[in-house]
Amino acid sequence: MKFSEEKLNKAKEIIARYPDGKQKSALIPLLHLAQEEFGGWLDVPAMDYVAGLLNILPIEVYEVATFYSMFNLKPVGKYIFEVCRTGPCMLNGSDDIIEYIKEKLNIREGETTPDGLFTLKPAECLGACGYAPMMQLGKHFREHLTKEKVDAIIDECRRNAAINN
Ligand code: FES
Repeated sequence: MKFSEEKLNKAKEIIARYPDGKQKSALIPLLHLAQEEFGGWLDVPAMDYVAGLLNILPIEVYEVATFYSMFNLKPVGKYIFEVCRTGPCMLNGSDDIIEYIKEKLNIREGETTPDGLFTLKPAECLGACGYAPMMQLGKHFREHLTKEKVDAIIDECRRNAAINN
């Protein structure tokens, strides 16, 4: 398991931003690179590879990768619905949205649809409480969610997946 030449160069560039002996500071960006490179999630060999690049212990990588919800520790779908369920989102109906997604996609929290398209991953506050209820989808937030909006998002993802196949 190793990065492509392009990713390896990017990793080296990131590591070089930090002073000697402080390479561990590059851990989070390197985990993002690894997640991108290795199919959207981090298995033990991927985390060990990152540890090797940074010359740190594997346990130091596991501690970080298992702490942050943005890192996936098992295979995920092409589209990850990270639905916030913290106070303001909950008060504005996030539980109903989560239930609706579960029913509509026939999956439970943390699961992926059999076609590999969707993963439902409830999240804690994503800092967009004023737009509750909301979720993160890739690099974007989807806000003021309703069941109709969820339907439209699912259709949009299916269309995009069909175009990109
Ligand atoms: Fe949902 Fe803050 S509570 S974004």
